[in-house]
Amino acid sequence: MTGRGKWSEVDSYFARTLIGSDAALDDALAANSAAGLQSIDVSAPQGKLIHLLARMSGARKALEIGTLGGYSTIWLARALPDEGRLITLEVSARHADVARRNVDRAGLGDKVEIRTGAALTTLPKIEAEGLGPFDFVFVDADKTNNAAYLEWAVRLSRPGTTIFVDNVVREGEVTDAASRSPDVVGVRRMFELMAREPRLSATAIQTVGAKGWDGFALAIVS
Ligand SMILES: C[S@@+](CC[C@H](N)C(=O)[O-])C[C@H]1O[C@@H](n2cnc3c(N)ncnc32)[C@H](O)[C@@H]1O
Repeated sequence: MTGRGKWSEVDSYFARTLIGSDAALDDALAANSAAGLQSIDVSAPQGKLIHLLARMSGARKALEIGTLGGYSTIWLARALPDEGRLITLEVSARHADVARRNVDRAGLGDKVEIRTGAALTTLPKIEAEGLGPFDFVFVDADKTNNAAYLEWAVRLSRPGTTIFVDNVVREGEVTDAASRSPDVVGVRRMFELMAREPRLSATAIQTVGAKGWDGFALAIVS
């Protein structure tokens, strides 16, 4: 076996070996599928990576842009201390409902607030309410607005904030400056901003796995 099948097999091996079965996460994926949500959540190894990065950075307040059914939300919320708080933003009321149930079932209801609406509408409210700065920001919504989400992540940050942006490789299309795909254009704009924003030190890593060929960008605010 080669290619995607093998990448999936390796992901399953890592998940089995290093993560194991987890009722709340498994139930969340089953509930997402039952509700007809697309299977575009992070993989288990990616979820664990985000969890570990948040723990390593000592995050107490986290912001997630793009909730879906709350799979990554559960990973991230579990990285926060008891008094920690995660605000997650989701445009679809249907996705937010599924996520609410998944997060509550995982016993994280008190830690997680789900805000429904387009993130570019809810982010200014979060700022106006003085809910920042956040210690960890996970950007995983529509890719067209990625540059604007990065701008907001920096705006709602403090020195030391970690920013993780998912799905930045697009099966290699990210290098295509002539691409007309709105997702690719959005990701490239995000990278341009990441490169020129003096407060950010960043890198990006390509990945293969159960979700195909993609990757993430990782930045710290100074
Ligand atoms: C890739 S999924 C998120 C996956 C989730 N982070 C996980 O790994 O479990 C992207 C989500 O962003 C939501 N979304 C799309 N456009 C949005 C917007 N403008 N504002 C907020 N959420 C948006 C979609 O409805 C979808 O649920």
